[in-house]
Amino acid sequence: ASIFGDGARGRMPVVPSSYASLEAAAAGALSPEAFAYLAGAAGAETTTSENRAALDRWRIVPRIMRDVGERDLSIELFGRRYPTPLLAAPIGALSLAHREADLGIARAAASLGIPYIASNQASIPLEAAFGATPGAPHWFQLYWSSSDALVASLVGRAEAAGAEAIVVTLDTHLLGWRPRDLDLGYLPFAHGLGIAQYTSDPVFQELVRARVASRAAPERGRITIAAIRTLLDLSLAHPGSIGANLRSPIPRAAVDTFLEVFSRSTLTWPDLASLRSLTSLPILVKGIQHPDDARLALAHGADGIIVSNHGGRQLDGAIGSADALPAIVREVAGRAPVLFDSGVRSGRDVLVALALGASAVLVGRPWVYGLAVDGARGAETVLRALVAELDISMGVAGVRSVVGMPGGTVIRRP
Ligand code: FNR
Repeated sequence: ASIFGDGARGRMPVVPSSYASLEAAAAGALSPEAFAYLAGAAGAETTTSENRAALDRWRIVPRIMRDVGERDLSIELFGRRYPTPLLAAPIGALSLAHREADLGIARAAASLGIPYIASNQASIPLEAAFGATPGAPHWFQLYWSSSDALVASLVGRAEAAGAEAIVVTLDTHLLGWRPRDLDLGYLPFAHGLGIAQYTSDPVFQELVRARVASRAAPERGRITIAAIRTLLDLSLAHPGSIGANLRSPIPRAAVDTFLEVFSRSTLTWPDLASLRSLTSLPILVKGIQHPDDARLALAHGADGIIVSNHGGRQLDGAIGSADALPAIVREVAGRAPVLFDSGVRSGRDVLVALALGASAVLVGRPWVYGLAVDGARGAETVLRALVAELDISMGVAGVRSVVGMPGGTVIRRP
């Protein structure tokens, strides 16, 4: 109603309502390098388009005469009630999008009671982002570092700062092949933009000190790390060549240490027990696309599943995330919440994912673009629009509640 009211007074929205226009507005607001990092994906980016195609294949079958005067969008997760079925997906290096970065999205999410999931690659330490929105729901997303001590420290910090769940992202044990980033010198890494969680960590600081003291530079031989290292060397040799408006506030030794400890490609399911032993918080495994992996995650102590392919940023040629969802929901069979992301662009998409059995939906690029266009206000506008479109779509489709939608709410296009 306030949109119509504003329109009547001649006030036009700053943040466009359609995703295509929103993305174009973000592209206009950002440097080409920053936009490339946020929008880009793995390989020829076919998985990003497949994420869309997979959601679009499901069509809603509207029902009428069902008294939809009151719609209930609330859900319960791990004993806490949330007013909407949305979460803000963990996104790294947000200072590329806007100077408010993680504080912007933490505030936007808090204003709607939506959980803010602090990324392991955040631009602002988790304590600062959580501290800016006291009482709001906060989760922490972990990348499983090759350093056990760093994993323990990060999880301990998150718990001490009031995180209510740990999301461990397990599809990024190697960084995907991302041509747009490779061609632009991996700007965020080169400039240390997504390593605030690390540089604020006492264990990481000790690792950097030890590295400087020993002057050791062990080569890990991982192809993407080698590629990033080469491009990093190039960017340091030609400081004007990329991201000329950004200066690295981070010493080279810290960036090198980060590249070494960022991930661990040798993980197997039994390792999950060691993470389980570090915390009593619920652990959600993010990056599941196969029903057997969902089963294994639960068997090894996970409390929730996040069906995600990282927005197509990890494996080009992978299936659309919504194509993975129904079989995983069947496999989990209500034993744990199944959250969903990758490709969600509208309230209609949220409705489809929920109708396919998702317990909640993570939103990624849409709010990042809102943040890019208008800071916290822009991110909040995008989230509010998603909730409003979900609410309206439910009403028009004859659906009263986001929980337990009747079978047949969506059908696959023949
Ligand atoms: C991500 N994603 C991500 N995931 C994660 O677990 N930790 C992270 O630090 C990041 N960083 C990140 C940066 C950027 C720029 C993007 C676009 C994505 C993945 C994110 O959490 C989510 O899975 C996807 O964004 C979902 O896909 P859509 O909705 O963006 O298509």
